Amino acid sequence: MRSYEKLLQNNKSWSTDIKTVDPEFFQKLKDVQKPEFLWIGCSDSRVPPNVITKTQPGEIFIHRNIANLVVNTDVNMLSVLEYAVHHLKVRHVIVCGHYGCGGVKAATSNHNLKQILNMWLRNIKDIYRIHNKELEAIKNEEKRVDRLVELNVQEQVMNLAKTSIIQRAWKENQIPHLHGWVYGLKDGVIHSVCEMKAGTHIDPLYEFDDL
Ligand code: CO
Repeated sequence: MRSYEKLLQNNKSWSTDIKTVDPEFFQKLKDVQKPEFLWIGCSDSRVPPNVITKTQPGEIFIHRNIANLVVNTDVNMLSVLEYAVHHLKVRHVIVCGHYGCGGVKAATSNHNLKQILNMWLRNIKDIYRIHNKELEAIKNEEKRVDRLVELNVQEQVMNLAKTSIIQRAWKENQIPHLHGWVYGLKDGVIHSVCEMKAGTHIDPLYEFDDL
């Protein structure tokens, strides 16, 4: 059997198992999607959102990219955000990074990864520059990268708050609340790094005058 055929076989048995436990499972999910959470996470295969939070289909709306970035020109991320916030009306947006993130680590090196990856990781280098003093004081490389992982999550939560999508939702619906989390590959535990309640004021430079 080829490796991908195993996936299809697993899928069949998964579907059968679920129907055995709850015959209505798929019927209930067919017509409505009402997740309470939007998850913006790293594409890393070791950080599967539903598995690590013990959630089921229908519970989390998910966007993933390398190093869980919120880039204000990324139409892919912004369309997911807009849909989740203004149509699904999720109550919480979670940015979840993870310790030992390869994307974050690569951004701390001088390696030329060619244009597209260089372009993407440049966003993280900018965060390193902003927090240069704190990071340079950490001598252990692994610990320094892990601290950058936390700062990156914090910065992405801030990037969410800078969007008119979030500011409009805060004004109209007083949701969503924003959360910055980091998952530990070593122990499978998620740590909360920061939280921003709906309506929090950020640097006025980023606040739109009609929101
Ligand atoms: Co990662």
